[in-house]
Amino acid sequence: MAGRLGIAVVVLVVCTLSLFSSIGVPRPYSTVRKVDVNDLWRTADSGGWRASSAPRSYWPPPPTESNGYLRVRCNGGLNQQRSAICNAVVAARIMNATLVLPDLDTNSFWRDESGFPGIYDVEHFIKSLRYDVRIVRSLPEISSNGKTKKMKSYQIRPPRDAPLSWYTTFALEMMKQHGAIYLTPFSHRLAEEIDNPELQRLRCRVNYHALRFKPHIMQISSEIVNKLRAQGHFMSIHLRFEMDMLAFAGCIDIFTPEEQKILIKYRKENFAEKELVYRERRLIGKCPLTPEEVGLILRSMGFDNSTRIYLASGELFGGERFMKPFREMFPHLENHSSVGPEKLEENARGLAGSAVDYMVCLLSDIFVPTYDGPSNFANNLMGHRLYYGFRTIIQPDRKALAPIFVDREEGRGSGFEERVRQVMYRTNFGGPHKRVRPESFYTNSWPECFCQPESKNPKDKCPPENVVEVLGSQLQSEESEGSEEGKDANQAAATGRAEEEGST
Ligand SMILES: *[C@@H]1O[C@H](CO)[C@@H](O)[C@H](O)[C@H]1NC(C)=O
Ligand SMILES: *[C@@H]1O[C@H](CO)[C@@H](O)[C@H](O)[C@H]1NC(C)=O
Ligand SMILES: *[C@@H]1O[C@H](CO)[C@@H](O)[C@H](O)[C@H]1NC(C)=O
Repeated sequence: MAGRLGIAVVVLVVCTLSLFSSIGVPRPYSTVRKVDVNDLWRTADSGGWRASSAPRSYWPPPPTESNGYLRVRCNGGLNQQRSAICNAVVAARIMNATLVLPDLDTNSFWRDESGFPGIYDVEHFIKSLRYDVRIVRSLPEISSNGKTKKMKSYQIRPPRDAPLSWYTTFALEMMKQHGAIYLTPFSHRLAEEIDNPELQRLRCRVNYHALRFKPHIMQISSEIVNKLRAQGHFMSIHLRFEMDMLAFAGCIDIFTPEEQKILIKYRKENFAEKELVYRERRLIGKCPLTPEEVGLILRSMGFDNSTRIYLASGELFGGERFMKPFREMFPHLENHSSVGPEKLEENARGLAGSAVDYMVCLLSDIFVPTYDGPSNFANNLMGHRLYYGFRTIIQPDRKALAPIFVDREEGRGSGFEERVRQVMYRTNFGGPHKRVRPESFYTNSWPECFCQPESKNPKDKCPPENVVEVLGSQLQSEESEGSEEGKDANQAAATGRAEEEGST
């Protein structure tokens, strides 16, 4: 702890002394301390904080009488869907609605037809959230004129980042009118910053406790992690050097004319037209790091060629030509095809493959996101690792590094490693820190979802040990009241035993 703090102080001093570095005059920095790489294999300094998403104030169970059914369609990839599911639970809570198990878009290209029950443990999801919302697997059947049919839901396209009030006014009114509403599409349809720490904690309960991948995905992931761990610690890297990202970022000059054509075509078809000048894009940190750049950063920090690395990524654009320099620096390279079981190959690119990558990156000793722009994978993982005990994150500051790389390419390479180290020293490697825009709540849920046992500040103080029992007895009394009134208490599992979820 003292070591990290010491480093931070040294860095602060060094940074104020060395304004020169940013205008490309390399100087020897004999005062910079070497990063102790061994230190980084441990978790970051918690500062006395620990993860906690249980309610800290009165939190009544969902009322027995529901205002109607809420259906949502979560579009996008695994991680975009993940935050959408958290939002859906919050929406159902504030509307006193019954949530229908969210629809997940499947990627027809990869023949991925599994949906929510194919990826997540449904029973665990429903049970974990029993103090928060009522959840059903599908809309009920209704009978009219002697025929039974599925209840219909009224379709609405919610505004992007809608405020809570949109749900409790317009959407609620439609729900009461129609009995059920269907919100589609449902990615980023609830504002991330909501001024209600209890609802933010509910998001954390969903994200970090209720959403558990199915047993077979957990099994494959832990097999991979065990294999990698058998030989010591390992690092995971999310190399977002993929076609869609490169086309989106508009960083195409490093590719062959044929490759550029592909990127330009993809860009035209998928994104708004915009003049993009590679050098400018790169200098403001908009280009994904190349595999070689990632390697150079890690080498500069002192990781040597014995470092075991798990690569999480889809298809790397440009292929082996870009991977070769990285592989030369770090030959102990694995991915889910090289260490995973064969059965994973069948669905390696669909949601299940992403889910395995997600788990391995969550459990790795160090995680290196290389692109934190619109990459839900890296963003969610950073948030999850923070929550999962401040697990080390090495997050390159692309904007600060860009001039250093450019200098090196243009022949001004002296002092390169020292300059890279200086930039890399500035981060806190995944410790608790204030959320700074554009960092999202899903990337950093501190302080809402963290507490300190001895905090003087009541809002940061950990909830009492028996919080789950209290919630359980509240739920039980609500349900017995409900049935006395002859209402259908549709969820029986109220035998509230203290469990891991919510309590830590
Ligand atoms: C939801 O239920 C709670 C408690 O029963 C009540 O206080 C609140 O006003 C209800 N909200 C809506 C939107 O129905
Ligand atoms: C790792 O680097 C050392 C020198 O630093 C070299 O002797 C060794 O052969 C390298 N190992 C591999 C597997 O490349
Ligand atoms: C995984 O690693 C193997 C062996 O190194 C390689 O052939 C394959 O292309 C890699 N797969 C992906 C998706 O990167």
